Amino acid sequence: MKFFLDTAMIEEIKQAKAWGMLDGVTTNPTLASKTGKPFEDVAKEILRVSAPAPVSLEVISTDIEGMVEEGKKLVKWGANVVVKIPMTEAGIAATQILTREHKIKVNVTLIFSANQALLAAKAGAAYASPFIGRLDDIGQNGMALIADVLTIYRNYQLPTEVLVASVRHPMHVVEAAKLGAHVSTMPFGVLRQLFKHPLTDKGLAAFLEDWKKVPQQKEGIKSKV
Ligand code: G3P
Repeated sequence: MKFFLDTAMIEEIKQAKAWGMLDGVTTNPTLASKTGKPFEDVAKEILRVSAPAPVSLEVISTDIEGMVEEGKKLVKWGANVVVKIPMTEAGIAATQILTREHKIKVNVTLIFSANQALLAAKAGAAYASPFIGRLDDIGQNGMALIADVLTIYRNYQLPTEVLVASVRHPMHVVEAAKLGAHVSTMPFGVLRQLFKHPLTDKGLAAFLEDWKKVPQQKEGIKSKV
């Protein structure tokens, strides 16, 4: 499963890349607003730091023509741009135009049902983004939606990748991976949590403590602790 970072923070992207765990980045207007910087500056920096990994940049227009024009403008900012389009009637029409006429990769966002994911795939989207955390928030089963979308895409060999979004905790990542979802996009805090287990920390501390009891060679491996 590919790991995307759901952020607009450059330092987080650099850290994920240093770990070798950056397969892509997703942004949205809420995340962009947290940087306090103009969107174009932030987006171009994200594209540069993340390249060649794909970066989803969201359009603000809500009409077909506006979304298509914005999409065509965004892709000029970098070779790794994926245009993020909201799941609306106009959004699906724009997705079709951007993908089929302009060969631009689209990520259809704000998906909350299997039928919406089916529409995104039929329109030629490269990615469909179901928001599982927001479904869980209202008492629905976000992961059940991922299972349904994967079944439907497999039934018809649809090439659209399921991009699991609104990921809130490590178990979302595990469950999505067990289902075979193509991508999970997660906040930096969740990516960092994937590394953690208290028994790892405890075990390492014990090993390092015991190493002090091992007689040292004159010429040999030296403990740095
Ligand atoms: O990028 C879209 C999505 O991941 C947002 O998540 O936590 O705002 O529901 P959240």
